[in-house]
Amino acid sequence: MGKITIAIDGYSSTGKSTIAKQLAKALDYVYVDTGAMYRGVTLFAIENGFIDEADANTAGLVESLSRIDLKFVYNESLGFAEIYLNGLNVEKEIRTMGVSRHVSKIATIEEVRKKLVSLQKAMGHEKGIVMDGRDIGTVVFPNAELKLFMTASPKKRATRRYKELLDKGEDVTYEDVLKNVQHRDYVDTHRQISPLKKAEDAITFDNSDMGLEEQFDRVLDYAKRVIEG
Ligand code: DC
Repeated sequence: MGKITIAIDGYSSTGKSTIAKQLAKALDYVYVDTGAMYRGVTLFAIENGFIDEADANTAGLVESLSRIDLKFVYNESLGFAEIYLNGLNVEKEIRTMGVSRHVSKIATIEEVRKKLVSLQKAMGHEKGIVMDGRDIGTVVFPNAELKLFMTASPKKRATRRYKELLDKGEDVTYEDVLKNVQHRDYVDTHRQISPLKKAEDAITFDNSDMGLEEQFDRVLDYAKRVIEG
């Protein structure tokens, strides 16, 4: 088989992007982090006053969607693409707790999903792509040749995420991070449009007790088996 499409879905902070990035590098494929796109729209909403602590001004944001330009630009020294919002690199800004708190809500808006899904489909039309998110195997690429569904216990995921945020110097508590993980799980799996769920033909991958190296070896093995037929 030639180049394939690899869809990686799963709960937040299951390490999807780490594995997806490594896999894309090993196969010389393009990697696309769709969570970064929902985060990019959320950052735009915050910066333009469409969100206050209590709620989001959905109508205002939807009217402004055509003003949002999202692009991935490959960074040679990092070895992966970084996201640009209206010409500015926002890779750091989109990973703060401020954005994390609102992104699930923004990801429930139908017009936002339509815009991002159509961009994602266009990015994948030549195959040779590893895309991660929540609806890649179910909605964006239902015909992907390899689909993985990643999961791990909420406590394990919160512990990983808490360490990452501390390393970045964010002032957070473990309890806050655990609550955010649980809240996002709830919203992601209960929203009306494209809720997070395992595609019937996806392989479930629970990495609660698996190191990065073992995960990577297994996933690369799955991919090679499909590619080599
Ligand atoms: O993968 P992440 O944590 O960066 O994703 C951020 C949020 O975006 C997450 O709460 C769910 C949403 N999301 C989505 O609804 N669909 C996707 N394909 C990717 C992310």
